[in-house]
Amino acid sequence: MAEKISEDPLVNAAAAARENALAEYSGFRVGSAVESEDGEIIAGCNIETSTYGLTLCAERVAIFKAVSDGKRNFKRIAVVADTDRLTPPCGSCRQIIWELCGDVPVVMTNLAGKTETIHMRELLPNAFDEKFFK
Ligand code: THU
Repeated sequence: MAEKISEDPLVNAAAAARENALAEYSGFRVGSAVESEDGEIIAGCNIETSTYGLTLCAERVAIFKAVSDGKRNFKRIAVVADTDRLTPPCGSCRQIIWELCGDVPVVMTNLAGKTETIHMRELLPNAFDEKFFK
């Protein structure tokens, strides 16, 4: 179990998931966790294999786990990595977070407990989504 790095259970769940990261190629371990509208926390880690391009980021693992469990509406997402400059979601994850979670706050935290929250509308301005089909 990871050390408690925050008073926020969502962040601690992301930190705990980070311990399970399969990141032997990059050495860059990431944990993430989403909070569903009913208050449940679902966490994920990044998963790398020898076919580098098939890597899954922690954020998408957490979201896909939650969706697969039947969750549909989310209040927040947390990202934890061991970087001084706090790690934000990559471009692919921004699109997935936007489409499946909406304009949620993204809580970025490092192992020292430094934290910053930024909304998805700031991370992905002028996003493409299903509204363009309607
Ligand atoms: N990674 C994540 O899991 N989330 C991020 O927000 C940034 C990048 C992973 C993907 C890959 O396994 C490793 O970090 C290096 O890019």
